[in-house]
Amino acid sequence: MPSDKLRILLVGNGGREHVLAWKLAQSDKVECIHVVPGNGGTAGVEKCQNITSVKDTDCAALVKHANDHNLNFLIPGPEAPLVAGITDHFNKYAPTVQVFGPSEAAARMEGSKTFSKDFMKRHMIPTAAYENFTDYNAARNYLDVVSHPVVIKADGLAGGKGVIIPKDNREARHALESIMANHDFGDAGNSVVVEEFLEGDEISILSFSDGETILSLPPAQDHKRIGDGDTGPNTGGMGTYAPTPLVTKAQLAEIDRTVLQPTIDGMKKENMPFRGCLFTGLMLTKTGPKVLEYNVRFGDPESQSCLPLLRNDLAELMQACCIGTLAKHTLSIAELSACTVVVAAAGYPGSYAKGTAMKVSVPKKEEGMYLFHAGTSLGEDEQLRTSGGRVIAATATGSTLREAVDKAYKGVGMIEFEGMQFRKDIAARALK
Ligand SMILES: Nc1ncnc2c1ncn2[C@@H]1O[C@H](COP(=O)(O)OP(=O)(O)O)[C@@H](O)[C@H]1O
Ligand SMILES: [Mg+2]
Repeated sequence: MPSDKLRILLVGNGGREHVLAWKLAQSDKVECIHVVPGNGGTAGVEKCQNITSVKDTDCAALVKHANDHNLNFLIPGPEAPLVAGITDHFNKYAPTVQVFGPSEAAARMEGSKTFSKDFMKRHMIPTAAYENFTDYNAARNYLDVVSHPVVIKADGLAGGKGVIIPKDNREARHALESIMANHDFGDAGNSVVVEEFLEGDEISILSFSDGETILSLPPAQDHKRIGDGDTGPNTGGMGTYAPTPLVTKAQLAEIDRTVLQPTIDGMKKENMPFRGCLFTGLMLTKTGPKVLEYNVRFGDPESQSCLPLLRNDLAELMQACCIGTLAKHTLSIAELSACTVVVAAAGYPGSYAKGTAMKVSVPKKEEGMYLFHAGTSLGEDEQLRTSGGRVIAATATGSTLREAVDKAYKGVGMIEFEGMQFRKDIAARALK
């Protein structure tokens, strides 16, 4: 007899997928989790198995795998499959599989920056002033007349590299040339957003939504630059902590009222209801919180700090998002702080070596310390090796932020591989 338990297909191979697998495995509702392709961390999670025989970008193969193994719940981890329409594909070809993730139409909120800026304008959601361009010369001319410092953003997905913050007009012209004339980001640069440079503290909010109700996890702060003191090139994120005290309760209420609920309402009104995890990046400016961007999936590393603070059954929440019953739930958040320190390979975010042997000791369950893997793989010889730029991260919870940070760095001490690098100042701004 088929059980009503969730048999999950989880797509992705980062720290986000490890923390999702870890949290989902704790649910009585979850029977098994197939991670495509997974990493050296997900391989060891209870109820989990890594599936490397199926290509994570091949929707037809993923449907076949789900059917062959009687899986009934799909979670696409990263943005690429969502923007490519994996949700609609499953709805069409595997309609009995529930999907935690937005439709292709709704995923444009991340997949196209010009689309999301126009959406915000239509719904009067506070964001940086901007103009969209498809014509290179028009964009160049605009740089000469615009009165504020600008940020230039390639429209499409660019793996976190499509945003350029020029120091002056010359660099701005150079950025436009790179994106629009030289096509350095391929089709992602066919159009650009030229927007106002905003000053302030940056925060991330992860929210669950079923298309009508929105419930948010504690606000997190990421550290994008590779170097201490926010120096050096941008990365996928070198560490997070949550909740960040840089945003007040009153500001959070304002963000709910002026940004989050209007976003969900606007998407519903435009026939692209948002079901899944909405990530809202905000700048807390002198004139109020303003949206930097939306992502349509869990943030990484934010989810590694936020999900250990969530007391609810994650599988239950995700299912409520799929069937439209989120209003019946409230989030139960531990009165703790969490901190995540990412450990990267030497050279990252530039080129880096892969296949370096690693030694990792596993923290005891009761310690409130977790090691979530990202770019690791477990060989047939059972040797853990590096396989990516962001390799692994140490997360800890504590009754104070100080305690969480100190414990997270203790966790970093349990990781050993040649050339490992990490920031020493995660959460420093909040601890000042
Ligand atoms: N208008 C802006 N003003 C100041 N900084 C910005 C602005 N837009 C983006 N940034 C910075 O650039 C980073 C990347 O931009 P974002 O819009 O999040 O694109 P992506 O994550 O797709 O690269 C942000 O995290 C933020 O630090
Ligand atoms: Mg971003």
